[in-house]
Amino acid sequence: MTDLQVRPLRPEFGAEVIGLDPVAPLSPVVVSQLRSLFKERGMLVFPGLYPDVRFQTYLAEQMIDEEPVDLDSLHLDELHQVSNVEKIAAVPMGRIMFHSDTMWEEDGCKAISLYGKVVSPGVIPTMYVSIAHAWKTLPQDLRARVEGRFALHCADATDQRKTYISDDVMVVDFGSQQHLRLPIAYTHPRTGQTLLYVSPQLTHHIEGLDPEESEALLNALFDHMYAEKNVFTFNWREGDLVVWDNLAMQHARPDLRADEAPRTLRKTLVPPYMVEEAISGNFKASYRRYGD
Ligand SMILES: [Fe+2]
Repeated sequence: MTDLQVRPLRPEFGAEVIGLDPVAPLSPVVVSQLRSLFKERGMLVFPGLYPDVRFQTYLAEQMIDEEPVDLDSLHLDELHQVSNVEKIAAVPMGRIMFHSDTMWEEDGCKAISLYGKVVSPGVIPTMYVSIAHAWKTLPQDLRARVEGRFALHCADATDQRKTYISDDVMVVDFGSQQHLRLPIAYTHPRTGQTLLYVSPQLTHHIEGLDPEESEALLNALFDHMYAEKNVFTFNWREGDLVVWDNLAMQHARPDLRADEAPRTLRKTLVPPYMVEEAISGNFKASYRRYGD
């Protein structure tokens, strides 16, 4: 790989990339190397990269777009951020259960990037799992129970999760009534991998089962997907950039409080069409612990 240093984060997914010069456009050779790595590993970490918003947006889009990204048409938004201290911020507090963004939307978010803009020492991490790996390692009895079945995903399924929910969970209402029905063994449209496509935050139920059976089967799948050995915990340092495949990977975080040390992560989505909605106040976050 030209002059980039690459090492796996986990045997089954993720790669750390050192030596990238964060200036757009990258050479076609570097783009090709990073795209191959992204497709194969699902998640790239660039420690201490300190990208500006333009490079961050460009790099994330270039991991998905086959053609060279047009730098003049990028949607740049410095204030699309996850933060416990900034006034304009998405998902400011609470625990977030594992999910992929916009699981309820047809042709929704394909990739996400987060940049550690302000990272106080010891702030909470972001956790990741590969649902391609989860499918590959799914025990045969569970595989037999889900093959051919479909699940329904929505903008908030936390009320369904009697065993996974606790009062620190953040509940987000995106104001969307959309539902999306997909096979539980879902074929990744870009990579062809089979994904174990359910999540505690956004999967409402499995079709064709009564509610108790559906929830019991989902819980058995969640126990497998989020077993400690399958979770990669990423501890942030200022300047880090993480870009991941929003379909092949799921993310989560522990509880975050407003009175904790500042943690501000600048976020981009590919495609960027949801950005304005995400920060415009069209969605509401609420916290069970406060009863609202
Ligand atoms: Fe998310």
